[in-house]
Amino acid sequence: MDKFVIQGGTPLNGTIHTSGSKNSALPALAAALLTDEPVVLERIPKVRDIRTMQRLLVDIGSRMEEDGERTTIVTEKIVSPEAPYELVKTMRASSLVLGPLAARAGRARVSLPGGCAIGARPIDMHLAGLVKLGARVSQEHGYVEAVAPDGLKGTRFTFDRITVTGTEDILMAAVLAHGETVIENAAREPEVVDLASLLRKMGAKIEGDGTSVIRVQGVTKLHGATHRIIADRIEAGTFLIAGAMTDGDLTVTGCVPEHFGAMTAKMLEAGVRMTQVDDTTVRIQPGGTLKAVDMTTQEYPGFATDLQAQYMALMTQADGISIITETIFENRFMHAQELMRMGAKIRLDGRQAIVAGRSPLSGAGVIASDLRASASLVLAALVAKGETVIDRVYHIDRGYESIEEKLAGVGAKIRRAE
Ligand code: EPZ
Repeated sequence: MDKFVIQGGTPLNGTIHTSGSKNSALPALAAALLTDEPVVLERIPKVRDIRTMQRLLVDIGSRMEEDGERTTIVTEKIVSPEAPYELVKTMRASSLVLGPLAARAGRARVSLPGGCAIGARPIDMHLAGLVKLGARVSQEHGYVEAVAPDGLKGTRFTFDRITVTGTEDILMAAVLAHGETVIENAAREPEVVDLASLLRKMGAKIEGDGTSVIRVQGVTKLHGATHRIIADRIEAGTFLIAGAMTDGDLTVTGCVPEHFGAMTAKMLEAGVRMTQVDDTTVRIQPGGTLKAVDMTTQEYPGFATDLQAQYMALMTQADGISIITETIFENRFMHAQELMRMGAKIRLDGRQAIVAGRSPLSGAGVIASDLRASASLVLAALVAKGETVIDRVYHIDRGYESIEEKLAGVGAKIRRAE
């Protein structure tokens, strides 16, 4: 089990370049199933979840070629329209093949994801959308099967609540359906817009992506395309918070500032000296006085739930009491216990965490539990007095490309150990 060993107390100074977005690359890879022509994706991050999705696509029938940061996917034939339990249990986002397989092959058999650390994470809304599009959906032995032998039929579908991969799944199913599909209460995340851009390059007819109503005119066939994945706004946001916590002078390049949504205003309100240098560069400067500011996670453009754990680590270093409310997932405070072991003063009350800052942190042995919780432990370790050892860092490797190299490159004392 890989560990990170971190000596705290060094401000981060220098420049970090943002990788491609994991949460944009995953649906983009699934979208390649929609055509028998080559799809070339650039800036795919080299992280575990991407390797899992690539393995899944190969099992389904895709040929994968990687050279540097370009990945070419060719799926001449769907050999096995299935996502097996052993893959899905490691990555819930495998459900993103449901829509493309139902659309391309008229059949999809995907293991139900089962729970994960941050919550039950059902896919009932994905399935409701497929049923509305005319698929017959059944469930047995822990698998869900969607069958549409005569193809899918355009429809009007309203999501009960906003779901990012649910929107992406139904969008990918609708592009090859007969007739028009209107998706209401759709997710507006930048990753949904990036997927729609790729699908349009492949010949899909889509408008309204980025708003809560997406209109799709089905087409009979999609062709190949080349697409550059957007920057990872959660990775970039994580590094900006690290710069603020360590009172460093840190520049993050290759990002898309407007994709931070409400995080930017929240950081400024909390006294972080954060400035946009140009349309792909943001800089944190030292000398800010961190003050406690309440935060509630919301769907985009609200404060991203994927940055909640990192923001909690920041608030442990801010003067005053802050209340953090998590509205998206039911169990996304796993990092709080570990932060408390490092000296943070946090009280959990259902969907709320009350943080009393500023509390000096001291290095400790901690355990990573899920992707973003582990990122918050890294941030805390960077300011803690002494040495922190973070166990089970495979959680971090799921979504951060070479995080220890990137942090060491700006002065962090971090190394990977067995
Ligand atoms: C996406 O997950 C992201 N993953 C998550 O990032 C992110 O936290 C989440 O969106 C919210 O922004 C990818 O894009 C691969 P949801 P997703 O469906 O689509 C409930 C990370 O750290 N729900 O928007 O799975 C669900 O349980 C990951 O990179 C249903 O009840 O999230 C949750 O409470 C973690 N039924 C809420 O909706 C459904 O059918 C929003 O989930 C679908 C979702």
